[in-house]
Parts: sequence; C-alpha cells; structure tokens
Amino acid sequence: MGAPRILQPILSTPMPLVHVTLHTPQGAALRVPARTGHSLMQAAVAAGVEGIAADCGGSLSCATCHVIVAPEWLEELPPPSPDELAMLEMTAAPREPGSRLSCQIEITLAHDGLQARLPATQY
Ligand code: FES
Repeated sequence: MGAPRILQPILSTPMPLVHVTLHTPQGAALRVPARTGHSLMQAAVAAGVEGIAADCGGSLSCATCHVIVAPEWLEELPPPSPDELAMLEMTAAPREPGSRLSCQIEITLAHDGLQARLPATQY
C-alpha cells in the first residue's frame, strides 16, 4: 500500500473539446465548441445558441432541444432510445428522418465536425 493518489488534478482536467456546426433556419452556420462527455444540447446552450430552448434541462420531457442531424452524421450516433423516440413525437416542428433530441446526444471525439440543423421552431 503506497501513498494515496491525489485525484483532484484528474477530476479538474477538462474533457477534450470538439466543434460541431448548427445551421439556423435563416441559413447561418454556427460553429459551437462541445466538450466530450457533455450533450449536444449542453454545448448549444453554453454557446448561447438561440433555437435550442431545452426547457426541461435535459431530462427528456420537453422536446424543445430538437435538431435535425445531417444524414452523413446519423451513423455516428447511437440509435435513439425508446423514450427519445416517444418524445420525438412531441416536437413542435415536423419530425424528419434525422430528427434527434440534442440532450440525448453525448458528444465524443468522433463527433468533431458534426453537422445538424435547427428546426424552424421549438414551440
Ligand atoms: S432538453 Fe428537454 S427533451 Fe431535451
């Protein structure tokens, strides 16, 4: 048994950062920094992206974090859970093939460059 490990430096080490691009209905492309281990919703809210309301704070009960993921990025994401699929029936804007709830998308290093579109409305 040796000296106890000091965990604080490990815990305070920030998770790696990637960048995702969110396209607004008006045609703007917003490059958003996103920490791995956080959700896409958290990254968008932290960056002040309008169009991600996230009223429930990520507890999968509002559907106001709706995004439409670009087709080429869909296979990089785990499939939606049954609960997410149920909530996707509640989105204000029509559901599309790439529709996901951004609070359910956990950012990984593989998501650097991910492209998604914001719906016309969240309400
Ligand atoms: S933030 Fe409410 S369902 Fe995603």
